[in-house]
Amino acid sequence: MTTYSATHRASIENPEEFWAKAAEGIDWDKRWDSVLDNPDPMTYRWFTGGRLNTCYNALDRHVERGRGDQAAIIYDSAVTDSKRTISYSDLLSEVASFAGVLAAQGVNKGDRVIVYMPMIPEAIVAVLACARLGAVHSVVFGGFAANELATRIDDAKPKAIVSASCGIEPSRLVEYKPLLDEAIELSSHKPSHCVIFQRPQVAASMIAGRDVDWNEAMAQAEPHGCVSVAATDPLYLLYTSGTTGQPKGIVRDNGGHAVALHWSMKNIYEVDPGEVYWAASDIGWVVGHSYIIYGPLLHGNTTVLFEGKPVGTPDAGAFWRVVAEHKVATMFTAPTAFRAIKQQDPDGKLIQNYDLSSLRTLFLAGERCDPDTLHWAENKLGIPVIDHWWQTETGWAIAANCVGIERLRVKAGSVGPAAPGWDVRALHSNGEEVEPGEPGAIACKLPLPPGSLTGLWQAEDRFRSSYLETFPGYYETGDAGFIDADGYVNVMSRTDDVINVAGHRLSTGSLEEVLAGHSDVAECAVIGAADKLKGQLPVGFLVLKAGVDRDRSEIVREAVSLVREQVGPVAAFKNAIVVDRLPKTRSGKILRGTMRKIADSEEYNMPATIEDPAVLEEIQGALGTIGFAK
Ligand code: COA
Ligand code: AMP
Repeated sequence: MTTYSATHRASIENPEEFWAKAAEGIDWDKRWDSVLDNPDPMTYRWFTGGRLNTCYNALDRHVERGRGDQAAIIYDSAVTDSKRTISYSDLLSEVASFAGVLAAQGVNKGDRVIVYMPMIPEAIVAVLACARLGAVHSVVFGGFAANELATRIDDAKPKAIVSASCGIEPSRLVEYKPLLDEAIELSSHKPSHCVIFQRPQVAASMIAGRDVDWNEAMAQAEPHGCVSVAATDPLYLLYTSGTTGQPKGIVRDNGGHAVALHWSMKNIYEVDPGEVYWAASDIGWVVGHSYIIYGPLLHGNTTVLFEGKPVGTPDAGAFWRVVAEHKVATMFTAPTAFRAIKQQDPDGKLIQNYDLSSLRTLFLAGERCDPDTLHWAENKLGIPVIDHWWQTETGWAIAANCVGIERLRVKAGSVGPAAPGWDVRALHSNGEEVEPGEPGAIACKLPLPPGSLTGLWQAEDRFRSSYLETFPGYYETGDAGFIDADGYVNVMSRTDDVINVAGHRLSTGSLEEVLAGHSDVAECAVIGAADKLKGQLPVGFLVLKAGVDRDRSEIVREAVSLVREQVGPVAAFKNAIVVDRLPKTRSGKILRGTMRKIADSEEYNMPATIEDPAVLEEIQGALGTIGFAK
């Protein structure tokens, strides 16, 4: 029997042999010259010299080998009460046609295309059409405001943008087109064309000469074949939060990505081709890229595309309905979704209404999973619940109980041992390894396995300084925690200004940049405070300019709207307070960590370098007025 430890050891001791074997799961136009290339001490490239097309591997080859009639996508929209099943053959023909639409607009290999769409099958069609052409897609999550979209347009410089008339949130329609128009107005780079999918709920107004109607273009499209690309060519860019308002454009390649995701489906998630796999996430996040789109399709699974929420569409039984109706074998979501369900249906009564016998395993990721939520899910579902850890940067799990290799013991609070390919260590600030069980910065020894980021889009220096320079020879994850004596990794917190709100990654720095733009604000700080439902919520502290004597609650309301307008509703920024001063060290550094501890009612040591200890009491009092620091 293959064991986890033997597999992990093989992957670390002989990565080239390990991943060359995994690469047999992919169809190559030309096999690689070398499995792993190391042009300089910090850079690694997988499968150099190899050529392939990711879309061919996700669609064409399955149709050629008899999977054409199998469902590729089950689209289940709880917010429109509609469903649609799309076979591999039909998806292939739609994707080939849409690749023709993009090609007719001058999109070629290497050009960028932004996809700003809700959770509808056309979003997957657009993504795969880019892959078919060798164009580089960059999906932007629908919950971001125009300003955030504009930043991404300026960085990625797309030739075309694909969007839809609206997204549907339970409480409102989100009109995408005015947001898109505003973003293009704000950006310096202008795309040549926008292809707009008109949903029946809202008709978007079109700009003549620039905007193209999806259906009209598809009716005239010439289907396009697969363009062969180098394994090292970029497949996509996905922006994620860093420490500043400028998001990081994570670059993913074609070859390593296809190999790693294909391998992960059986080895981590234990599904076989033909089975139904459901990642209840959003295509705007990395989980959506890897496990709504690429992983399941590369592996010949059926993927569920769910447009809805765990609660309120219509109730806390929505997930169970989807599992039962579509016979989902493996499910993946964020702990927040389970906390929301548990809050509304604490006894899990709604679960009894559905036949969940198809469901073998539940995977959770995206944020720290509290043991209560894990145990609740285990008890109510009666199946293994596996918390695993990954990042936009890594593209797939760094640590996981890889049930397809060996079912290991689940330890609540831990994300499991390092996944094959990942050499995970907890380090002191001096770069030395800490003892088992001792806290440290979590880092991964280079080379990272296939599928992980190859860089930041046109920002090589930032890539190196963000990830590779703190601990030479390692990738710095930005997470802190400990590794126990059995090798189980426990991810406890971030080492930077990133916070995690309902599984969504946000930079407090970018929120601060927006708040600092308010004309009455002299200084500000944002922290992530613990929240029972969303894990963390951002809380803003505003120090007003001297002489401002307007109504403070009015200023707070304006600050809250400013974040919603400039970052988007996804920031869930609803808590802000005006304070007289911020706690600082004598050298002027704001003590955000201490403020967070006060907000979460945790014990804290008085920082030795604090300028004035009395400020902390003022902060505690202010937090009390908005329901924190109890
Ligand atoms: N387009 C436009 N707006 C969006 C959006 C989208 N795609 N997604 C979310 N929003 C809006 C919401 O409408 C909400 O706006 P509001 O302030 O007007 O209410 C705001 O952004 C915050 O959204 P969300 O964090 O989703 O909170 P919620 O209260 O609507 O729902 C949960 C709470 C727990 C149900 C929800 O956060 C959830 O399902 N989380 C799972 C997270 C997840 O899948 N993460 C992916 C990583 S695996
Ligand atoms: P994202 O890039 O949006 O996927 O966010 C990645 C970050 O989310 C990680 O760096 C962690 O801080 C956090 N995260 C993801 N999964 C887990 C997990 N299973 N446990 C704890 N934190 C997690």
